[in-house]
Amino acid sequence: MMPGENIEESGKDSVVSNGAVYEEREVDDVLSPEDLSEMLAAGTKESHDKAENAPFVKDFLRGRIRREIFKLGAVALYYTYTAMEEEIERNKDHPQFAPLYFPAELHRHQSLGRDLQYFYGEDWERSISCSPATQRYVARIHEVGASEPELLVAHAYTRYMGDLSGGQVLRKVAQRALKLPPTGEGLNFYLFDAIHNAKTFKQLYRSRMNELDLDTATKERVVAEANRAFQFNLEVFAELEEVRKTLPDDSADEAIPAHGDMQGDISKCPYYAAKMAACGGTSYACQMGKALLRHPTGQVMLATWVAVVAGLVAWYFM
Ligand code: HEM
Repeated sequence: MMPGENIEESGKDSVVSNGAVYEEREVDDVLSPEDLSEMLAAGTKESHDKAENAPFVKDFLRGRIRREIFKLGAVALYYTYTAMEEEIERNKDHPQFAPLYFPAELHRHQSLGRDLQYFYGEDWERSISCSPATQRYVARIHEVGASEPELLVAHAYTRYMGDLSGGQVLRKVAQRALKLPPTGEGLNFYLFDAIHNAKTFKQLYRSRMNELDLDTATKERVVAEANRAFQFNLEVFAELEEVRKTLPDDSADEAIPAHGDMQGDISKCPYYAAKMAACGGTSYACQMGKALLRHPTGQVMLATWVAVVAGLVAWYFM
């Protein structure tokens, strides 16, 4: 089983998360339209539709994601979650956020760091930079955390609930499209190891949002802020889409894993061999011959071939 495959959508158990068992009572509450969770779901539906239909997201869902763009997406997420989780830490005891404080279960800052290390190497922190659209998103998160902490829930909701929903589809698509290792490297962001049942956890999160002591006017401001958060995400997607258009060859890095990130001899890679063969050319045959002769198995195979051919020739002339 892959790490993170423990995320189930179907279970009805109580939430067992990081050793803690949350009571089922919390997740079985009857909802009303004035509940924040319901106001958010209804009030951001249009934004969600827009997000799902953004060209970048649609292409991603079809498996048309370039490695370079996926990496830049991870960078944008890294800055976004770093800002969000800094503000969450700052406000973890604030009564209008405290019930939503689930660092072990939700926080993504460290897993994104591991993904970036995988993609950019040991020196990843010096290889990345924050794009203009991400800077605007980050600035707003800090503004909210510092001066309107009652709205922080909107940012947490938009990202974490999305990651536990459509994010799981994206993980599978990315793994297949980019041929990332089944062991999860490069996809830590999508793996919530401390959440055993995403559906039940989301129910718990919704019931915690509904417990927040917020008046109707504040709840409406939270919904408006969530729509703003969706808009920031759309702007980051649009920016990634623009960068994609500037990349030279649309097929190169989709077809084979990028070897810049791997150790070892490229000629041993079956994708490399297949791609070179598809390109044709004598240099490829020559390179393959040389590669074969460098290995003892290749030498034995060649010697066997020579012996068989010599035997056939001798038999023919007898
Ligand atoms: C790839 C495209 C996407 C797909 C296929 C998708 C799919 C879904 C699905 C099926 C749910 C319902 C989960 C449930 O009822 O428990 C959901 C919920 C949600 N998604 Fe997405 N989503 C996508 C993109 C996004 C994006 C880009 C964001 C935000 C940046 C987002 C934010 C959310 C949020 C906040 C919820 C929770 C809604 C609620 O229950 O209140 N989604 N998504």
